Amino acid sequence: MLKFPKNFHIGASMSAMQTEGKGITEIGDLTFDAYFKENPELFYHGVGPDLTSDITRHYKDDIEKFKYIGLDSVRTGFSWARLFPDGINLNKEAVKFYHDYIDEYLKNDIEIIMTLFHFDMPLWAHELGGWESREVIEKFISYCEFVFKEYGSKINYFVTFNEPLVPVFEGYVGKMHYPAKDSPKEAVAQAYGIFLAHAKAVKLFKELKIDSKIGVVYNWNFTFPFSDSAEDKISAEIYDAYVNRGPLNIMYNGNINPIIIKTLEEYNITPFHTSEEIEIIKQTEIDFLGVNYYFPCRVKTNENVKNRWALDQMHIEIPADAKINPFRGWEIYPEGLYDISIAIKKELNNIPWYIAENGMGVENEDRFRNENGQIDDDYRIEFLETHMSELKRGLDAGSNCFGYHIWAAIDCWSFRNAYKNRYGLIEVDLKDQSRKFKKSAYWYKELIENKE
Ligand code: BG6
Repeated sequence: MLKFPKNFHIGASMSAMQTEGKGITEIGDLTFDAYFKENPELFYHGVGPDLTSDITRHYKDDIEKFKYIGLDSVRTGFSWARLFPDGINLNKEAVKFYHDYIDEYLKNDIEIIMTLFHFDMPLWAHELGGWESREVIEKFISYCEFVFKEYGSKINYFVTFNEPLVPVFEGYVGKMHYPAKDSPKEAVAQAYGIFLAHAKAVKLFKELKIDSKIGVVYNWNFTFPFSDSAEDKISAEIYDAYVNRGPLNIMYNGNINPIIIKTLEEYNITPFHTSEEIEIIKQTEIDFLGVNYYFPCRVKTNENVKNRWALDQMHIEIPADAKINPFRGWEIYPEGLYDISIAIKKELNNIPWYIAENGMGVENEDRFRNENGQIDDDYRIEFLETHMSELKRGLDAGSNCFGYHIWAAIDCWSFRNAYKNRYGLIEVDLKDQSRKFKKSAYWYKELIENKE
């Protein structure tokens, strides 16, 4: 079995919205509540964001289970709409809930990493214009200030955004997130607002001299050209600038790739910005990085071009001989974790980093249930083992990686996919909220016990 060093964190991640649902305190409406109200048929099996693992009621038992597995760290998050349901007034019950919840992790010696924004946009903020609105950004910063001051002494790692651009790509040029538009120009303006909000949150954190660390969790689904052709290489470079390294670098140290500036100008979609804002972005300096990795992006040049923005000229294609997760349709490429380890070492000054999400989503896991009622998820064990081996290789090559978190600790509701793809080490029966360890939980426990 794989051996990781004693001080290497092995844990799991989740998010507030995907585990809390409406929960035990008041919470303001989210964009996903509106989306579900308008189009329930778009959600897998008609399951909306209210039906989750209901962790605000079950957290003591759940944390006991995390402890049993041996997770030494867990990432979840605060819900902005729970702490400030209308964006203005503080919800005191929510403040107390997060104290109790965090304390329970600490009592169990589990390091708790907290995200401030994980796709859970309050509806009022969306109605003001979302991240394009400077008023929304200021309200977000006030929420961050409250959280840093209130919980700063208990939390060692704060994450500003999880997969910052996913809601932008999925909401403004895709149809998975609200408002399900198709407007590259708006997507770019939203993305810029997120970079600014992140930079301002990091700046505030440093000004407040909070004695912990701040970073971002970026989904770095490593870029490769699909072929050796000159076209695919150029497309891959542009794709990387827009989707992978480009935004990651902006959030790492405010470095804006000239390819982004040039191509936005070419398509006349440069977002509104001021020189003061650009200065704030350029001063960004995070303390650590979280990386979510699920699959590689092999970029192929399009023949039929829509030509609204640079990304219209390319798409992601999976090679015919690649290994695929048949349940989710994503390519399985564990070597990507080694590539990321080396890239961080070389390109990001070997910043302390960890794998914040990596895992395997599977449909209808019921079919893998054994006679004792346990899900025998050998496919997940294989996925974990191959990916973690590649990460270990990166670690041995000197990459400054301090941990690995599987997505997810427990089966989570997911955006429009609801419970289609289950990822948890712990199964949730939505009929009665009972929990059961999957086989992978025992494998993970052994792996953790095997640290030396
Ligand atoms: C990650 C997100 O991108 O993927 C999670 O950070 C999400 O929030 C996970 O649940 C899995 O997504 P899906 O759509 O396969 O359930």
